[in-house]
Amino acid sequence: MERLIIANWKMNPKNLKAAFVLAGSVKRYLKDVRGVRVVICPPFPYLAVVARQLKHSSLELGAQDASWEPSGPHTGQISLPMLKALGCGFVILGHSELRAQSGETDAMVNRKVHATLKAGLVPIVCVENAVQLIKDLRGVPRSSYAKIRVVYEPSWAISTAKGAKPADPKEVRRMVQKLDTIASPAVFLYGGSVSSKNAGAFLKKGMVQGFLVGQASLRPREFANLVKKAIFG
Ligand code: PGA
Repeated sequence: MERLIIANWKMNPKNLKAAFVLAGSVKRYLKDVRGVRVVICPPFPYLAVVARQLKHSSLELGAQDASWEPSGPHTGQISLPMLKALGCGFVILGHSELRAQSGETDAMVNRKVHATLKAGLVPIVCVENAVQLIKDLRGVPRSSYAKIRVVYEPSWAISTAKGAKPADPKEVRRMVQKLDTIASPAVFLYGGSVSSKNAGAFLKKGMVQGFLVGQASLRPREFANLVKKAIFG
């Protein structure tokens, strides 16, 4: 069974040098760790430098968003071919912060899922409920579902949300069971205030194969402990 941990750095750290140092520390802490795929998703301007740092390591690279257009008059957008050329194998799509702050709709996420699969990258589709997932996967052939990773990430559980707390693993299990009826055999992850302390409970009770990690992915030692938890429980 695949174990997958996605580090979502969001708009951090503050500068290029810090990004290079952070990627280096994560690489060092996870040097001998096997049996898990770890994907680092830095902000776009850091992708090249993080790619350089991750070379000759088992850590993989991902992006936090992408345009569904391959090129053209789309000011401020980043295309999937550009991301692929930088070494990205994964793209986070439909994150609740993008939905809330940039007006990303399910129709947009849906176009991005189609484009990402077509470009040969792995879509990491973030949803809060079953209706979103149905809309985000509209028109995607069932034969492609195995290539998709679905994150159940309730926005209220994201560490930076007001009064955030991680979801109850039993609730995650119920929701993932529901999502599974829609997107099986996709791989399911959980996101929202995941730490090395609570990761084990989700893997046992949550029916998930890994995590989307925000805050904890910025602290290399804590992140490495979390990754080890995902392997050894
Ligand atoms: P968090 O963020 O781990 O800081 O809660 C997760 C995310 O938003 O991807």
